Amino acid sequence: MNNLGHSKKCIREERLMVKIEWDDSLSVGIPLIDEQHKMLIQRLQALVHAIETFQSVTEIVKTLDFLIEYTNFHFSTEEKHMNETQYPGLTYHQTQHEEFKATLRDLTVDFEEDGATRALAESVNTFLMNWLVTHIKSVDVQFGTFLMEKGRIL
Ligand SMILES: [Fe+2]
Repeated sequence: MNNLGHSKKCIREERLMVKIEWDDSLSVGIPLIDEQHKMLIQRLQALVHAIETFQSVTEIVKTLDFLIEYTNFHFSTEEKHMNETQYPGLTYHQTQHEEFKATLRDLTVDFEEDGATRALAESVNTFLMNWLVTHIKSVDVQFGTFLMEKGRIL
């Protein structure tokens, strides 16, 4: 690749790159949930990486499927504990999960139909990451606090 092409790619990567690492500010106080959030962030980063390194649509959809699979598993874990503890925020929390799952399903269709467009790449980077961080810091933290108050060790 010539210099110009290289610098173009760098600009693109610089603009798209939103690195989210798990740190204590994302802790909900429940080790099991924290561990699952770390894994979720890793899988989301893998998807971002696949897009940023210009992988084929098949590869991107594969990382998206991998993310969806873990998201479903993680949301079920949270909801199972919400059910068992009769958490009053269950319905609202579940609605949030359903909306996120629907967004992931829509993304799969969009990637399959349109390929890895810049708009899609940006929506993964900004929307999904922001959603996850906001969700963890608000509704998941509330649930974590509730579990701790109940003395439930996970
Ligand atoms: Fe949640």
